[in-house]
Amino acid sequence: MQKLEIRGGRKISGTITISGSKNATLPILASTILTNKKIVIKNVPVVKDVETMSTLLSELGSTVKFNQKRKKIEIFNKQKLKTFAPYNFLKTMRAGVLVLGALLTKYKVAKVALPGGCAIGSRPIDIHLNALKKMGAKITIKDGYVVASAKKGLKGCKIKFPKISVGATENILIAACFAKGITKMRNCALEPEIDDLISFLKKIGCKINKIGKRSIDVCGVKNLKKAVHKVIFDRIEAGTYIIAAALTKGRLRIKNIDPKIMLTEINLLRKMGVDIVTKKNYLIARRLDKLKSVNIETRPYPGFPTDLQAQIMVLMIIANGVSTIRENIFENRFMHVSELRRMGAQIETKGNRAKIFGKGKLNGAELMATDLRASVCLVLAGLVPSNKTVVNRIYHLDRGYEKIEKKLSKCGAKIKRFR
Ligand code: EPZ
Repeated sequence: MQKLEIRGGRKISGTITISGSKNATLPILASTILTNKKIVIKNVPVVKDVETMSTLLSELGSTVKFNQKRKKIEIFNKQKLKTFAPYNFLKTMRAGVLVLGALLTKYKVAKVALPGGCAIGSRPIDIHLNALKKMGAKITIKDGYVVASAKKGLKGCKIKFPKISVGATENILIAACFAKGITKMRNCALEPEIDDLISFLKKIGCKINKIGKRSIDVCGVKNLKKAVHKVIFDRIEAGTYIIAAALTKGRLRIKNIDPKIMLTEINLLRKMGVDIVTKKNYLIARRLDKLKSVNIETRPYPGFPTDLQAQIMVLMIIANGVSTIRENIFENRFMHVSELRRMGAQIETKGNRAKIFGKGKLNGAELMATDLRASVCLVLAGLVPSNKTVVNRIYHLDRGYEKIEKKLSKCGAKIKRFR
């Protein structure tokens, strides 16, 4: 079991280049199933989930070349793909379920492992399945697999999602590209990663119209084109490093981003007292004064992202006053709290609410990571005390953060991986 050892108490200062977004890359990769033309995807983050999705596509029969040095994936579907996505891939990466819409709409059949629950919640896929059923799919669950077919192909129809879901919006968006007629999707998720998927799908020839708030119309097509696409930056990675600078009284220049996409996070951090200067494609973050407490709620975009909740909690521990968090997206996303308490943090939780008592002192400890964002929150916490913190089970971290210890060491952190 690999672990990270951190000796904190040092300023994190310098420049960090933000990688491409994992959560934009994964649906784009899944959607390449639709086309037989050559696709080149650039600015791909070299993280485990992207490797897993690439291997899943190869397993299905795609020719996938992942040039990790150039952060580029080339995909070419020479032949008919297999329509079976084994559990092996979905047990470690739930986004594997995004191949369902693509396989079903293209090949009219698909058998995809049902992803299980995970550390942050039960995470069902009922919204995906009900929407596909509405488009004409016959779906059964057998031996842990979603078995889907649509003999005459999927049909466009009106789909109003009962709840805002990033994954369901992506899966149906992809499926609708080859459905007959128009699919009118309502109450869609609006995450920037979905915009990036739309921009890729349009490049390959899909007809998609965003019409007003949370509404997307897709007109099915038959033929697609080749394309080159550059994935957008990872806004959660950017937010994580801003917090690292604020926690350690450092000064970071965060490069390769578009600050306009993360205004909610930037404004909230400013409210806490983090000094952030934004430019067109970078920002500078530093902490000048004492930090103030804030009350936040996680919400679908453009609200405060659940994927940054664990990280901001660490900042709340050292801020003045009492802060509160209400986690509205996942039912079990406070797994990091008990580990932060082991470092000395005073946090009370009740259901989906957390009360963080500020002016806390963090002490190094041996910790266990439970999911991706909980893991990075423990790394951030470890940057504060000058004694040793050990974060165990860091394979979660490698699923979504590219070269985190390299990026942090370059900016002054004392952080080492043990294999
Ligand atoms: C995406 O997960 C992200 N993953 C998550 O990032 C992110 O936390 C989440 O969106 C919310 O922003 C990827 O993009 C690969 P949802 P997703 O469907 O699509 C419920 C990270 O750390 N729901 O928007 O799975 C669900 O249980 C990760 O990078 C249903 O009830 O999230 C949750 O409570 C983790 N039925 C809520 O909706 C469904 O069919 C939102 O989930 C689908 C979802």
